[in-house]
Amino acid sequence: MAEQKQDTASALKDIISHAKEYGFVFPSSEIYDGLQAVYDYGQNGVELKNNLKTLWWKAMTMLNDNVVGIDASIFMHPLTWKASGHVDSFNDPMIDNKDSKKRYRADQLLEGRAEEYEKAGTPEKGKALLEAMAKAMTDDDMSGLRQLILDEEIKCPISGTGNWTEVRQFNLMFSTQVGAVSEDASLIYLRPETAQGIFVNFLNVQKSGRMKVPFGIAQIGKAFRNEIVARNFIFRMREFEQMEMQFFCRPGTEMQWYNAWKETRLKFHKAIGLPAEKLRYHDHEKLAHYANAAVDIEYEFPFGFKEMEGIHSRTDFDLKSHQGLSKKKQQYFDADLDENGKPYGNYIPYVVETSVGADRLFLAVLCNAYTNEVVGEGEAAKERTYLKFHPSVAPIKAAVLPLVKKDGLAEKAQDIYHSLKRSFNVTYDDGGAIGKRYTRQDLAGTPFCIAVDYQTMEDNTVTIRHRDSMEQERVAIADLREKIGFAVSMERVFEQL
Ligand code: GAP
Repeated sequence: MAEQKQDTASALKDIISHAKEYGFVFPSSEIYDGLQAVYDYGQNGVELKNNLKTLWWKAMTMLNDNVVGIDASIFMHPLTWKASGHVDSFNDPMIDNKDSKKRYRADQLLEGRAEEYEKAGTPEKGKALLEAMAKAMTDDDMSGLRQLILDEEIKCPISGTGNWTEVRQFNLMFSTQVGAVSEDASLIYLRPETAQGIFVNFLNVQKSGRMKVPFGIAQIGKAFRNEIVARNFIFRMREFEQMEMQFFCRPGTEMQWYNAWKETRLKFHKAIGLPAEKLRYHDHEKLAHYANAAVDIEYEFPFGFKEMEGIHSRTDFDLKSHQGLSKKKQQYFDADLDENGKPYGNYIPYVVETSVGADRLFLAVLCNAYTNEVVGEGEAAKERTYLKFHPSVAPIKAAVLPLVKKDGLAEKAQDIYHSLKRSFNVTYDDGGAIGKRYTRQDLAGTPFCIAVDYQTMEDNTVTIRHRDSMEQERVAIADLREKIGFAVSMERVFEQL
C-alpha cells in the first residue's frame, strides 16, 4: 500500500532541490550566486524539455494538415514592437518601499490582500478590492493604485512599513543597441513574445507555401521579459521559451476556431499525462487590447492553480497594426465563395493564438511526476521518491543493469545497451548494488530498468522492472526494442489527440 505524503507547503522546495540534485534544473551561473529568475537545464532537464517541445511541435505541425512551422529571429525591427503595442503598453505598475528599497508590483500586492480576504472567509471584500484595482489600472495616472495600497494599509514584508513611493509604469522589454559605434547605434529589443515573428512572416509563409486560409504557423523560441517580481522557480523567468501558434482565419469564423483550439490544447496536456483534475480553463474577464476572447489553461501547481497556456482570439489587431506602420498590405485574397456565390475577396485574417510556455509545461510535468510515498506497513514501511513521468516525456527511457559485472554479464548488458541506444535514449549502469541502481533510475524518472542476470546467459531473457509498480517481468532480449519502443513512443500520445 502506498500512501502519498500530504505536506504540500514544502512540495515546491522539495521539487526544486530534486531538480537540482538529479540534473534537471540548475540556477544560472550558480558559482557567482546565481542570477535571479534565470535557470539552466541540466542533462536530464534538457531531454525532458526537448521531448515536450518535440511533442508539441509534432502535435501542431504533423497532426494538422494546415499548420506549418517557422523559426524567426529574436531580434526584430524596433517598429515591430511599436505596432504590437509592446513599446507603449507592455508595462507593469511598480511601487518601491522607501525604507527597504524593495520594489513590488502594485497589482500583486493588492492581489495578495484579496487572497487574504478569501482565506479569512470574506471573499466579497477581496472581490471588491480586485474590481477597484482593475478600475484604477485603466487610469493613465496610477495614483488610484497607490491609494488602494495605502487604504488597505499594506506593509512591505521586509521593512514592515507602509512608506511607499508613487506607482510608476515599468516596461518589461529588455533593450540593447545594434551598431558598431554609439552614434549610429539604434535601440532594439529582445523579443518579449515569439508571436510577432509569426505575424511579420504571415504573407511570406502564405505565398511560399501556397497556404489557404484557415491555416496556422507554429514556432518555438526564446522570449525575454524583465519581470519585476520573479518567483516560483521556473514559473516566472526573465529568459524563457514559448511555443506559440497563430491560426489565421476568415473574420467571423474566429470563435469557432477559438473553441476548437481550446479543446485541442486541453487534450494535449491530458495526453502527456497531466491529470484532468489538475487542469482547468480560466476565462479572462479583462481582455488585452488585442483580444475579443481569451482563456487560460491553468494547472494546479504546488502554489495553486496558475496559467500554463493562453488561448487568445486576437482579431486582426496585429496584422492591421503592422500594415499601418510598415505600409505593406497584409491582406489575403480568399477565392472561396460566400453564400451569395461571390468570392470572399480581400481581407486581413483574424487570428486565434495558442501560447504555452515550455518552461511552465516542464514545471507542471515535473510537479506532477514528483512522487514521495510511504511503501509498506509497520516496521517495513519506508519512504520512496520517484518521478512518474509519462514514458514519452521521460528523459531516459530505459537503463540496462547487469546484476554483477563478472561472468560475462557486463558484456551481455553492454551488447543490449548498444543495440537499444539507436532506438531511444538508454543508459548503462553497473556501479553498486542493483537496488541502489534501481533507486537512481527512479529518481531520474526512467520508466524501465532492464536487468541482466545469470538466466540471461542461458536463455537470452532479461527482467524489465516497471518504475511505478516496481513489478518485474521476464522478456526475451529480441522483444525489448519493440516492447519498450512502443511504450515510450510519441505515437502513444498522438493516438489520443
Ligand atoms: N503571445 C501571447 C503571449 O505572450 P502571455 O500570456 O504573455 O501571452 C504566454 O504568455 C505564455 O508564455 C504563458 O501562458 C506562460 O506559459 C509563458 N510565459 C509568459 N511569461 C513567462 C515568464 N516570465 N516565465 C515563464 N513563462 C512565461
